[in-house]
This record gives sequence, structure tokens and C-alpha cells, in this order.
Amino acid sequence: MRLDRFLSDTGTATRTESAKAVRAGQVTVNGTRPKSASLHIDPEKDVVVFQGRTVVYRQFTYLMLNKPDGYLSATEDSRDPTVLDLLPTELRRLNLFPCGRLDKNTLGFLLLTNDGDLAHKLLSPRYHVEKTYRYRCEVPLSAEDASRLESGVDIGDCVTKPAKVRRETDDTGTITVTEGKFHQIKRMFEAVDNKIIGLERVSFGGLALDPTLARGEFRPLTEAEEAHLRHAAGEQ
Ligand code: URA
Repeated sequence: MRLDRFLSDTGTATRTESAKAVRAGQVTVNGTRPKSASLHIDPEKDVVVFQGRTVVYRQFTYLMLNKPDGYLSATEDSRDPTVLDLLPTELRRLNLFPCGRLDKNTLGFLLLTNDGDLAHKLLSPRYHVEKTYRYRCEVPLSAEDASRLESGVDIGDCVTKPAKVRRETDDTGTITVTEGKFHQIKRMFEAVDNKIIGLERVSFGGLALDPTLARGEFRPLTEAEEAHLRHAAGEQ
């Protein structure tokens, strides 16, 4: 792999910045200053230091974001801020995108990644990846309505698959679904003549939202978390 590609894939620098840094002697490969950013390196073995910092190669990036209110789950928008606006420049260079969608006013766990293959599997109905939401609804949710939500309700374009509902108070609790239809939870509650007035995703693919992340904060997944998601998505 070319050195400039390595530096851009890791979000360290653009190709132009890499070439400049190499010319300025700010990059070393195994302790030696390369003559050109087109040098071929082995990303697994060679030690690359950029402006004094060792760069660790990762093919893909996985971030757990605690989505705040008012941000779109999109990569760009002409009117509203998107979740990518919450990232610093070096991470915005990595072509990350949200894995699935939370509504503008839904909070909580959103995975940002540039691994299209894993994202595709996590979103595929084939693997039944669980998503748990903490809800607040407008009117008390009766036990009967909770069990209707669990069995499946008609939301217009389909009948929802079995879900799990845990009522905590009359109007709050959690609901776990394995699908990801547009406005799914809101439409499910409408189907039982109720209304969602607050929604937060608290877990995705069996991973709980890190409680130390404030709204708008993110962190990389640990290796164990990444492996967990791969497993949830049917990989080994
Ligand atoms: N269901 C919804 O209605 N909205 C979301 O953002 C996520 C699930």
C-alpha cells in the first residue's frame, strides 16, 4: 500500500498533506525519512510516524455515537446538522456513514462506520439484529397494548415482527425490535392509539450505549465490541 493512501485511510492526512509532510521531513517509515509519499509500505509491519505520532493502521473505523436531538442520520444536508458534524476533521476524512437511521429527534446509540459490508449485514432483515429503545409515550401503555406490540401490529405497509416490551412506569419502558422500518417505533405506538413523545436507542446488536458518553460524544468500539457486532451480523 502507498504511504499516502495509508495516511489518508487512517484519517491522518489527505494525500496532498501527506506529500507535503514527507517533503518537510515530518514522516518516518521504520525510522527513515522516505523520499516520496508514493513509497510502498506494509501497513501491518512497517512503523510509520507522522509528525511525531505513530500511526496505527486500521482498515475500518467503528464509532459508538450518543446521538443528540436535532441531528440528521445522514452524511450531508443543506439545512440541518448531520451526525458527521459531531466529528473532528481527521475523522470526517474517513468516509464514515451512519449504520441505519435514527429520526432527527431520536437520541442514543448510532454506529458510525466506513465498513459497508458489516453495515449492510447489521441492517439486513436476515440477521434479526436487536435494537432496544427507551420510550416515553403520551398515554399509559396498557398490558394489552404492550402485548399487541409484542405480537406484531399493522403499521400500514406491513405487520411488525415479534418485539419485546418491558413496561417500567405507565408511560415509560423499553421496546426491542429486530427490524428497522421507517419511524417503526412511532408507527407501532400509533397502531395502538398511543404516541411516542421521547425515544432513545439504548442498545444495538446486543451492545449497550456506553453510559459515560454524553449526548454528542462518541468513542471507538473496543475489539470485543466489534467482534460482538460481527457475530450479531452472522460473521464468525
Ligand atoms: N423508530 C422510530 O420511530 N424512530 C427512530 O428513530 C427509530 C426507530
